[in-house]
Amino acid sequence: MKIIVTGSAGSFGSAFSHGMGDVPGAKTIGVDELSRRGAAANLVWFNKHSVDHVFEQLDVTSASDMDDLLGHHPDADAVVHVSAHSAVTSSVTDTRHDRDTSARGTLNANEAVRPHTPGAALLFSSTNKVVEWSQVHCRRSSPPGRGQTQEGAHDV
Ligand SMILES: NC(=O)c1ccc[n+]([C@@H]2O[C@H](COP(=O)([O-])OP(=O)(O)OC[C@H]3O[C@@H](n4cnc5c(N)ncnc54)[C@H](O)[C@@H]3O)[C@@H](O)[C@H]2O)c1
Repeated sequence: MKIIVTGSAGSFGSAFSHGMGDVPGAKTIGVDELSRRGAAANLVWFNKHSVDHVFEQLDVTSASDMDDLLGHHPDADAVVHVSAHSAVTSSVTDTRHDRDTSARGTLNANEAVRPHTPGAALLFSSTNKVVEWSQVHCRRSSPPGRGQTQEGAHDV
C-alpha cells in the first residue's frame, strides 16, 4: 500500500506517517514545504526512529509540482492531504497566504489525483479554526512535533 502524505512533517502528517510504520507493506511518500516551526525537527525524528518515509520538499500551492508528484506515483492508494497554514493567529493577519495554502493546496491535490490516481482515496481534515478547543480531548505521544507531549483536554 502506497500513501502520499502532504504536510508530512506537521502534527497530523508526522503522526500518521509514524503510525503507518506499523502497517506491514505500507509505504508513505511525504511532502512538506517545511514552513511550520518544528517541521524540520520531525524529519530528524523520523530518521532517528527509522520510520520508513520517503520525503520530498514540495509546495502544495504549485499545481505543476503536485501534478508531477502524483504523476510519479500512479500506484498510490491514497493521498492524505494535511498540509495547511494551521496557525489561527497569523491566519487573520495574513489571510491571502492562509487561503492560498489551505484552499489552493486542496484544489491542487484534488486536481492532481483526478488524472493520475483516479482510484485513490483523497482524505483531508477540516481546519482547526472551526474546532472549539475547550471541548477537544487529545492524546499525543509521538512524534514530538513542536516539542510537546500532550495528553488530556486542552483548556484555552
Ligand atoms: N492539530 C489539530 O488539532 C487539528 C484539529 C483539526 C483540524 N486540523 C487541521 O488539520 C490540518 C493539519 O493540521 P496540523 O496540526 O498537522 O498542522 P501543522 O501546522 O502541524 O502541519 C501542517 C504542515 O503543512 C506544511 N505546509 C504549510 N504550507 C505548505 C505548503 N504550501 N506546501 C507544503 N506543505 C506546507 C507545514 O510545514 C506543516 O508541516 C490543518 O488543516 C488543520 O487545520 C488540525
